[in-house]
Amino acid sequence: MGTEESSIESGVSETLTITDNRTGKSYEVPITDETIRAIDLRQIKVNPDDFGMMTYDPAYTNTASCRSAITYIDGDKGILQHRGYPIEALCEHSSYLEVAYLLVFGELPTTPQLERWVWDVTHHTFVHEDIKAMLEGFRYDAHPMGMLVSAVGAMSTFYPDAKMIEDPEERYMAAIRMIAKMPTLAAFSYRHSLGLPYIYPDNDLSYAGNFLNMLRKMTEVKFEPDPRLERALDVLFILHADHEQNCSTSAVRSVGSSQVDPYSAVAAGVAALYGPLHGGANEQVLRMLRRIETVDNIPDFLNGVKAREEKLMGFGHRVYKNYDPRARIIKKHVDEVLDAVGLDNPLVEIATELEKRALDDEFFTSRKLYPNVDFYSGLIYEALGIPAAMFTVIFAIPRTSGWISQWLEMTDDSEQKIARPRQIYTGDRDLDYVPIEDRNGPEKIAGPPARRPVKSRRGA
Ligand code: SDX
Repeated sequence: MGTEESSIESGVSETLTITDNRTGKSYEVPITDETIRAIDLRQIKVNPDDFGMMTYDPAYTNTASCRSAITYIDGDKGILQHRGYPIEALCEHSSYLEVAYLLVFGELPTTPQLERWVWDVTHHTFVHEDIKAMLEGFRYDAHPMGMLVSAVGAMSTFYPDAKMIEDPEERYMAAIRMIAKMPTLAAFSYRHSLGLPYIYPDNDLSYAGNFLNMLRKMTEVKFEPDPRLERALDVLFILHADHEQNCSTSAVRSVGSSQVDPYSAVAAGVAALYGPLHGGANEQVLRMLRRIETVDNIPDFLNGVKAREEKLMGFGHRVYKNYDPRARIIKKHVDEVLDAVGLDNPLVEIATELEKRALDDEFFTSRKLYPNVDFYSGLIYEALGIPAAMFTVIFAIPRTSGWISQWLEMTDDSEQKIARPRQIYTGDRDLDYVPIEDRNGPEKIAGPPARRPVKSRRGA
């Protein structure tokens, strides 16, 4: 039974009554899907010509920005589902390209639908030679994520018709091209950082196998990926495909709300993912484990974290206040991949002991800080022979299907329009202009002024 019927049955109205104690007035605000519309608060005023009440929610910690049917997360229970299918089942039975189809179209494909989808992706893996030339212009030590941001943005200039964002064929081709070309751009960026020739896609290989080919092929005539590594990488791609309104996805939606082409919107997502608190965390986890060096150093390291000297990278999450289900699945694959490559990585022992100690420490458990998707993924990438600077790029590859599916959903949502939040102004007002000759007080030295903390209240 829906909530509407139940409330009518029980006579309870789905509303919130708000009393403004400044005026004694009460307001009835409708509740829909356990939310109230922020705009319904604007009627709350002291004086008739007031602007009216807003909500204040820095970093949107408690604000729903959209309605979406793509990914469901229950942070307390550690649940993650894509279009209703549990992530555990998708990792067990599906493939990354099938999950990408599911995200984009909302249902699992039939055999002919999947065959057509895989054929289209496979036959759009090449990038224009001018994009390749653009990548060759980067410094030898350019970070691959910086190269990827630029390359994805540049794609908007090679497919100008993508500006027709309502055109069904353009929308389909944008999805195909971005899903298909992201591994190529990522691999080109990696080969560039090593000063190696770029390797072109091999259409005989799977999506993950071809990526390994473009990363690793040297003088052999035909690259043959290890099927165990191919499968592990495909599962990692599934695990990183989408994660509802995370930082990079909300960047794609916000930029896309201006009706820019999807390539430019996704380039904004790549830029957001570059940040160490988001996609860049997997690279930081490896660096952190290396700095800890031995299990014996873990207590001192954790004391430093508790003294706020640094964060325990790969731990914590805005939504998961339980174990990130993706971390649990990745952890299972770490040993399999290490066996496959015959590696015995000492960092695994440090990571395992670090997790154990943290989950036994009130500082972390009281803040509900558990391993997230980034805590173990770097260990697998390293076992696959992928350098730390490439970890976030590998996150960007599968997240492309999430970004494009969220962009498609946003453009179809009649409630959405250009994103333009409000603010609480804390700055000065109505100052008199001061001629430059009167500004050189003793405290006015050359260079930028010291950073000013944002005032918590106006005039404070
Ligand atoms: C991803 O959103 C997504 O879905 C993201 C993602 C996806 O798939 O798209 O899941 C991928 O980005 C995973 C997260 C990767 N980032 C990291 O591992 C970096 C380390 N983690 C933190 O920076 C942090 O946990 C965040 C950014 C992930 C979440 O931060 P929140 O929700 O803003 O939480 P918070 O900063 O308000 O922290 C609450 C408390 C604070 O302590 P108090 O000031 O209240 O005493 O927990 C502390 C924080 O200082 N805290 C940590 C910590 N994370 C939070 N303390 C130590 N180590 C940490 N990792």
